[in-house]
Amino acid sequence: MHKKEVRFEYLEFSDIYECSETVQKLFNKAVEAMEKAYAPYSGFMVGAALQLDNGQVITGNNQENAAYPSGLCAERVAVFAAKSLYPDAQILHLVIVTSAQNIMRPVSPCGSCRQVLAEYEQLQQKPFKIYLQSANGGLICVEAATDLLPFNFDSELLNT
Ligand code: THU
Repeated sequence: MHKKEVRFEYLEFSDIYECSETVQKLFNKAVEAMEKAYAPYSGFMVGAALQLDNGQVITGNNQENAAYPSGLCAERVAVFAAKSLYPDAQILHLVIVTSAQNIMRPVSPCGSCRQVLAEYEQLQQKPFKIYLQSANGGLICVEAATDLLPFNFDSELLNT
């Protein structure tokens, strides 16, 4: 038996102005998207914005439904929109924001979103950064989507 370890590093910023201008603009776009979220059931508004390598910025927000499981998280709305419009473009950065005021740490993607993000990252064979911010100003950057989901279900398993 061997003990193995999975570890990853992430960045913590004290201020959004420590990020590049591209990322700052993505934050603004994510906040705009968040304000248009349809979240009447949870009241938890989430916005996402991603930068593609073709220059396009695609946004998304959470879309809920009276049949609760039919809703979708902001980051999946954004990434599915991006991949349906520009299937060959690469994702460079993804920013996720929330309006929740009383949380002490950044909102981070649910397991289903992690699986979806990991697959697109593996498809493009290049990591993309994920920036997460909470309403109280905390801001972190994870350097790869797969960092958030070690041992994700990999599409390559289906081809073996
Ligand atoms: N939600 C997101 O949109 N993204 C996340 O990363 C976490 C959760 C949404 C789903 C649901 O509409 C609401 O937040 C409460 O779970």
